[in-house]
Order: sequence, then structure tokens, then C-alpha cells
Amino acid sequence: MSAGEASIAGAGKVSAAVQKTLSAKAERFTESVIREMTRLAQKFDAVNMAQGFPDFPASAEVKEAARQAISDDINQYAITWGAKELRDAIARKFERTQGVHVDPEREITVTCGSTEAMMAAMMGIINPGDEVVIFEPHYENYGPDAILSGATPRFVQLRPPGWNFDRDELRRAFGPKTKAIIVNTPNNPTGKVFSREELEFIRDLCVEWNAFAVTDEIYEHIIFDETKHISMASLDGMRDRTITINGLSKTYSVTGWRVGWAIAPPEASVPIRKVHDFLTVGAAAPLQQAGAIALELPPSYYQKLAEMYLVKRDRMLAILADAGFRCFKPAGAYYIMTDISGFNFPDDMSFSKYLVEKIGIAVVPGSSFYDDQSMGARQVRFTFCKKESTLAACAEKLSKLRA
Ligand SMILES: Cc1ncc(COP(=O)(O)O)c(C=O)c1O
Repeated sequence: MSAGEASIAGAGKVSAAVQKTLSAKAERFTESVIREMTRLAQKFDAVNMAQGFPDFPASAEVKEAARQAISDDINQYAITWGAKELRDAIARKFERTQGVHVDPEREITVTCGSTEAMMAAMMGIINPGDEVVIFEPHYENYGPDAILSGATPRFVQLRPPGWNFDRDELRRAFGPKTKAIIVNTPNNPTGKVFSREELEFIRDLCVEWNAFAVTDEIYEHIIFDETKHISMASLDGMRDRTITINGLSKTYSVTGWRVGWAIAPPEASVPIRKVHDFLTVGAAAPLQQAGAIALELPPSYYQKLAEMYLVKRDRMLAILADAGFRCFKPAGAYYIMTDISGFNFPDDMSFSKYLVEKIGIAVVPGSSFYDDQSMGARQVRFTFCKKESTLAACAEKLSKLRA
């Protein structure tokens, strides 16, 4: 490489003059490994057990609501912080399911997926020098969210097999610079569902250090084995220091609709709404309308969703155990973290490459969920939000691995 050139991830060689104009922040993270695995799955015609999107249809009622909204000419910008019908429905559902009363006029911001909600929340509350506590392994977006918003991440380990955290380690991660902690429950990639006791411990630290909890609750309805999802905002003392992130993607199997939201106290909603306005103006108006209908589905919808995923989880656990993986049984969400020590590969990357190229299965290498990538070197993640024929194809392909 000549003196006038530098390598930019994903862009090959560029001149120094061009590099000068590029963002040092964006240089600090790579493209999404998860979405890269989807591209590799397509390239090698592999079964995609990597990215968490269902390959089965959304409910007929929800789809019909979207069609109807377009027929009704809901084609122009919605109010920037979200269509009133959807914000009202979000407020009703939060009260119904978690007992938390929020004002849809001042405390809800509808965004382009929970991805944007998380980014807008971070940009809305972070100042230079602020620290954000992040449990790891973590959903890969949180690293870039922290970098782009200017926060310094402080990582705290969730340790297998139970994915518990050490209370002293968490206590040490908090301090005067702590602006927030990100809590993702039910958790991707581990399937951990934080208990009331754990949330209360986190609550006490937030109160002690005057920090926000930013909670990603996108898998709230995908829970197993009598586990209960508890929203941090429902805990005493947390109503006004929690930013609850959620969305339509996982609960209604519409990851491509890109509708999410942030529920935050009015003072925090003001900057979140401003950031959101200038990031995206608003989420797709007809799909917000359909979202308002989806959120009024009866409890039986959510029961069936959890039952369906329970069957898929158990099926996938059996497939993976049969193929020689050590599995960490998830209590929620639709992923299984596995230990690959039983296979003779130097690390998760080489194993994932082998799986996609030679076996025909795309997975996510464990290292992509950690800041210190060596911590994920013995892990890969499978998703099970797939129809039975996809799970059967996965089982068939993995039988080659055993052989
Ligand atoms: C924990 C978590 N949060 C957020 C998202 C993205 O959600 P959305 O489609 O609402 O942007 C995902 C997607 O996989 C996820 O796993």
C-alpha cells in the first residue's frame, strides 16, 4: 500500500485525500456480521440460520390491515413522532401487559424499527465523556450505537451456562460518568430473560448513580417455560428513568416493515424526537396504521406465538445436540448460543466459514457478540425462527457435519 492510500473496511484502497473526508467514528466498527452471514448464505445457497427473520408469513389480519391502510390513502408523512392511532395503541398495550401508564402525546416516539429507536435514544441522552454499561455477549448494534452517539461502553459479562452476571463486576462498571445501562431482555444472543431480582439490582445501581436504563424488549412475547417478561419501567423508581425500546418486527413477524418505538419520560422524549426527526422524519405511515391494529390482537395471539416458538426451540435443541453441539437452552427470544468445543476447529470464524461453504448452513460466529472477540471464539449462534421445512433442511445438512 502506498503512503497515499489507506484501507477502509469494505471499500478496498482509497486515496489519503478521500480518507480525510471520511468519518473516524464509522472506521471504528465493521459491517454487521449477521447481515454479512445472510449475504454468504445467499452466495453459497446455504440454509440461513444466522439472521433473525421469520421465513413464514405474518398473520393474515395484520397483512390485511397494511393493505387497507394503503387503499385508504394513508400515503403521506405521519406525524414525526408517530401516527396517533399507533401511539395510543402502544400506550394501551404497555398498560395492559406491564401495568405502566404512559402519555402517548409526550412519551412515545415511533421510529424506523427499534434499531432507530435505540440510536435516537442514545444520541438523545449522551454527552461526550458519558459511559454506557452493556452486558455481553450483546446484540451487535449496541457497539456502533455507543460509538456513533459518543458514549464509552463499559462491558459486563454474562457468563454461561446460566448467563448470569457478577454483581460486583456490574457494581464496578457504574460510576459518576455512567449515563445509562442497556438491558436487552429477553436477550439476543443468549436467550436469557432477566429476573425481577436482577432487574431490581440494576434498578438500585441506576438510582444510586442517576443513570437511565435503556431496555430493548423486542422479544417480550417470545418466552418459554413459565418465564415472565418484566419491563424495567414497571419497577418502583424506574418509571421516569427507563427508555423502553420495542417494535413490530419480532412479535408480528414483520422485520421488513421497520416500525419500532421508544417510550421515555417527557424530558428524554424531547431530544429523542428531535434526533428521530432529523434522522428519518418518520416510519412508513401505512405500516404504522397496520401496527395500531396489530397491537390490539387478543392475548391468544401472543400465547400461540410463544407456543409455536417453544416447539421450534425444542426441535432445534434436539437437532443441535444430535449434531454434537453443546447448547445453552434459551428461556426467551429465538436464538440458541452453542459451544463448539466438541468440533475440531481453531475458532468460531473458521467453523462458521466451514459451515456455510461446505455444510450449507449459515450461523453467526460468537465473536461478533463480544468486544473482546476471543471471548466468543468457542461459540456460534443459531436462530430458530424458521418454518419446519427449513429446520428439517438444517437437520439434514448438519448430519453431514456429524459424519
Ligand atoms: C435485540 C434486538 N434488538 C433490535 C433488533 C432489531 O429490531 P428492529 O427490526 O425493530 O430494528 C434485533 C434484531 O435482530 C434484536 O435482536
